[in-house]
Amino acid sequence: MFRSHTCGELRPAQVNTTVTLAGWVQTIRKFGAITFVDLRDRYGITQLVFNEQHSGQLESNPLGREFVLQVKGKVIERSNKNITIPTGEIEIDVIEFTILNKSVTPPFTIQDDTDGGDDLRMKYRYLDLRRNAVKRNLELRYAVNRSARNYLHENQFMDIETPFLIKSTPEGARDFVVPSRMNAGQFYALPQSPQTFKQLLMVSGYDRYYQVVKCFRDEDLRADRQPEFTQIDCEMSFVEQEDILNMFEGLVKRIFKDVKGIDYSEQVERMTWEDAMWQFGNDKPDIRFGMKIHTLKKPTSVFLNKNDQSDLINGANFVVFDGAESVLAITVAGGASYTRKQLDDLTEWVKRPQIGMKGLAYIRHNEDGSLKSSIDKFYSEERLKKIADATEAQKGDIILILAGAEERTRKAMSELRLELGEQLGMRKKEEFKLLWVLDFPLFEYSEDDNRWVARHHPFTSPKPTQISTMIENDPAIHDAANYLSHPYAQIKANAYDMVLNGNEIGGGSIRIYQRELQEKMFAALGMSKEEASHKFGFLLGAFEYGAPPHGGIAFGFDRLCSILGGSESIRDFIAFPKNNSGRDVMLDAPSSIDDTQLKELNLKINQA
Ligand code: AMO
Repeated sequence: MFRSHTCGELRPAQVNTTVTLAGWVQTIRKFGAITFVDLRDRYGITQLVFNEQHSGQLESNPLGREFVLQVKGKVIERSNKNITIPTGEIEIDVIEFTILNKSVTPPFTIQDDTDGGDDLRMKYRYLDLRRNAVKRNLELRYAVNRSARNYLHENQFMDIETPFLIKSTPEGARDFVVPSRMNAGQFYALPQSPQTFKQLLMVSGYDRYYQVVKCFRDEDLRADRQPEFTQIDCEMSFVEQEDILNMFEGLVKRIFKDVKGIDYSEQVERMTWEDAMWQFGNDKPDIRFGMKIHTLKKPTSVFLNKNDQSDLINGANFVVFDGAESVLAITVAGGASYTRKQLDDLTEWVKRPQIGMKGLAYIRHNEDGSLKSSIDKFYSEERLKKIADATEAQKGDIILILAGAEERTRKAMSELRLELGEQLGMRKKEEFKLLWVLDFPLFEYSEDDNRWVARHHPFTSPKPTQISTMIENDPAIHDAANYLSHPYAQIKANAYDMVLNGNEIGGGSIRIYQRELQEKMFAALGMSKEEASHKFGFLLGAFEYGAPPHGGIAFGFDRLCSILGGSESIRDFIAFPKNNSGRDVMLDAPSSIDDTQLKELNLKINQA
């Protein structure tokens, strides 16, 4: 046995016992002939005391940071106790020690507050992983994993692995492809998710499936996206949407309990996609705070069931509002006291290219009841009062108004709301608020592809009453100019997302399980019969052999961990992540392959 105890284990109860520890040298401090060393392992840090008798050995074999040591010694009580660490009441009076391995000086300090920048830490990720902060993240990730598996196991879900070398499953991103040596000129795709496999497992009768599984998507990266990431992927047969929502809010609540000790007993709030967009301008609203969007004016082609307040806005001869497709407002409680400078800063903020607005109008609802605004010239006090009523502004509040094209303005208002929520301290990391967003649109217009595409994926079922509005092989599927008035804009799906603090942590749907409807869906996406059969013949075929009604969901495991851990970046919760350009800087991957490999694979690189 290399060690009798770990470096996090010893307490005053073990005083006077002889122990053996093994670990890494964290710090070395010399006081005359005595040397103090902090020895670290995964479990903690223990202070070692090397007395005079070891000075000869230490002189001929000096210790250094990150050396691996084995130490035999006696546990003694510390005279100078350190109550900030669990082992701080004792220390080890070293009897003998062995240097198991040396270390060159690490490129950054292995401490909570390290001096290493991102790139350096990623290059030496194996050293970064020794740091407490990173270790705690991986521990949290493992705790979430264990909790999810326990819950799913207790609910009869079966973990079944699905292949990684597959044929492309379209989920909206690009595929990573793998050339096949044995099938020259042909490629596998890495799965963007196990979507079709889990549906086939339902056809096979495994009525509750799950997998903690890697997914691969070649998409533009952000703080909450990695090219390979992990899902907790689930599917169930003989269920309706309600069953799925209940089962999986149960899963997340269980994770909250096991991992954070939080009793999330209230029912998870639910909101339709349309209401989320109307009230928050966002399909993943952060509902830890209110500050809802008020639509003063909107185009007639969107939110058909909602009324705006355009009679308050139009006809005041203010060209900016008269000419705008949409005019949106939010009321900031207590904002009437904003200084000129604060308003100028907010105006600059909305004018940044990422937000893209031309300006920001405001109406102050002063404490004395008067209304003072940047649009006084055009709007009478009486009209301003009506706008204040419509936007639920109280004395002491400010109304902020943006005007412009519908989609851009709503998005900008959503961003402004989130920014203000942040500034006003209403987005607390330790407050967790879940939300189901329901009834997503079945289709969305893709400006990149210049056509209507499936918003979730093509296996998601439409609301049954709207199936008749699906148009097969409609040439107008490419009509970018009028897409908002295309009937597809109104068709809703049995699809749902779970949102946590403004982040999409999971998404799923009730699936199509009849061949005819699946074929109709492919045709509605403009896919010919041949193309559908070439890409999805296996699934269409399976649907002919008694496919049960089914549905499911997948959670973004990395994302869930990062939110629970209070971090913006999922990279902090992945042992070996990629950087923002999709590179593994430690391995230096991707990299070129040699000519023999290329030849075997029948590939030629086009020298640009
Ligand atoms: P979807 O594409 O919505 O659904 O993915 C499910 C969840 O996975 C997370 N996620 C990501 N996390 C990190 N990096 C990425 N690049 C990334 N992309 C997605 C999100 C998201 O909510 N097969 C369907 C699920 C189903 O219908 O059952 C699917 O993959 O948190």
